[in-house]
Amino acid sequence: MRLYRLKHTENGVRPVLDEAPDPSPVPGEVLVKIQNASVNYRDLLLLGDPAMTEGVGRVPLSDAAGSVAAVGKGVADWKEGDPVCIPFFRDWIGGIFRNDYMSSAFGGPNTEGVLQDYVSVPARSLIAKPEYLSFAEAATLPCAAVTAWQALMVRGHLREGDTVLVQGTGGVALFALQLAVARGAQVIIISSSDEKLSRARKLGASELINYVRTPDWDETVNALTHGDGVSHVLELGGPETYPRSIKSIRAGGHIAQIGVLTGFGPRPDIDRIRSTNASIDGITVGSRDHFREMNAFLTHQEIHPVIDRVFPFEQAGAPCSSFRTVRDYRVASSRNLEVDPSVRTVFGFE
Ligand SMILES: NC(=O)c1ccc[n+]([C@@H]2O[C@H](COP(=O)([O-])OP(=O)(O)OC[C@H]3O[C@@H](n4cnc5c(N)ncnc54)[C@H](OP(=O)(O)O)[C@@H]3O)[C@@H](O)[C@H]2O)c1
Repeated sequence: MRLYRLKHTENGVRPVLDEAPDPSPVPGEVLVKIQNASVNYRDLLLLGDPAMTEGVGRVPLSDAAGSVAAVGKGVADWKEGDPVCIPFFRDWIGGIFRNDYMSSAFGGPNTEGVLQDYVSVPARSLIAKPEYLSFAEAATLPCAAVTAWQALMVRGHLREGDTVLVQGTGGVALFALQLAVARGAQVIIISSSDEKLSRARKLGASELINYVRTPDWDETVNALTHGDGVSHVLELGGPETYPRSIKSIRAGGHIAQIGVLTGFGPRPDIDRIRSTNASIDGITVGSRDHFREMNAFLTHQEIHPVIDRVFPFEQAGAPCSSFRTVRDYRVASSRNLEVDPSVRTVFGFE
């Protein structure tokens, strides 16, 4: 089979095309023939993680969809040809998150990723692909969509008429926008690009703020909500956005702490959380059960993920060829130069 491994090259750590023997089904597991895989910000973060690239290079990427190629001994729930999505975590089936689930994330330092022709997945972790979605669309769901779902619906208990602040127009942000609009919430979205804001408007955003022209966007958020602030913030930025997220939350509101787009280690002054009776929830993607619940909602609402470009499998290195580090990537993305990561990039395995 074909696969990519992260290796040191003269351009830095890159996915390098390789070959391996076709795998056989493992007892209790399902062998999935991958049709499409998609890229997340995490995959770029991991390019700089020594644990990913020391020794034998890992297979990158967590998100994919495909068809069951073979089932291992003892598997009764799946059959050859079933269309499926790969879960983000091999081991988080349901219930409350446990620390040891972290190492079971596909495409991380401890679990091989999905940028390969075949991936073996425990039968109980696998997710049926929503019928109305293409494989490429379904390949965008496991990380970005499930994260937005857990943040807004599971932990945030989003209701019709709530107000939601979404940061940027990346994968998690656009799924959050689509889910919130489908639930009947009002979405305020911030972006560095007027063109992307107008696309967000078409997806249902109510209020648009360009965070480059309006760096004090929290003041605008408060003005737009008559001084109240919003009921939900998807905190995607980290250190540079967190203080403004806290200033944007309404009394009793909910901040979902998710992202690190401007770096790690936010040290915000959280005193206002106390005085507003607001709450902050940490979010780490979601479980198989979250994924299933979300798929039922997506199917009912007929939500289609936004895809920008689909690359052939052989060009999987291309989307990250113009930058070496996440910092370069951030600069490129915020200036809208070589890379437009704000919509899903997907690889086709034809
Ligand atoms: N905790 C978890 O479980 C979890 C799961 C998934 C993702 N994440 C994290 O969530 C973040 C988003 O992930 P993603 O895959 O959706 O990223 P992505 O698709 O690469 O999103 C990039 C977009 O983020 C926006 N952005 C960058 N800097 C910003 C800033 N200072 N303020 C507001 N927006 C900014 C930009 O939007 P514009 O171009 O519109 O300006 C940019 O296009 C990442 O930090 C990722 O690591 C965490």
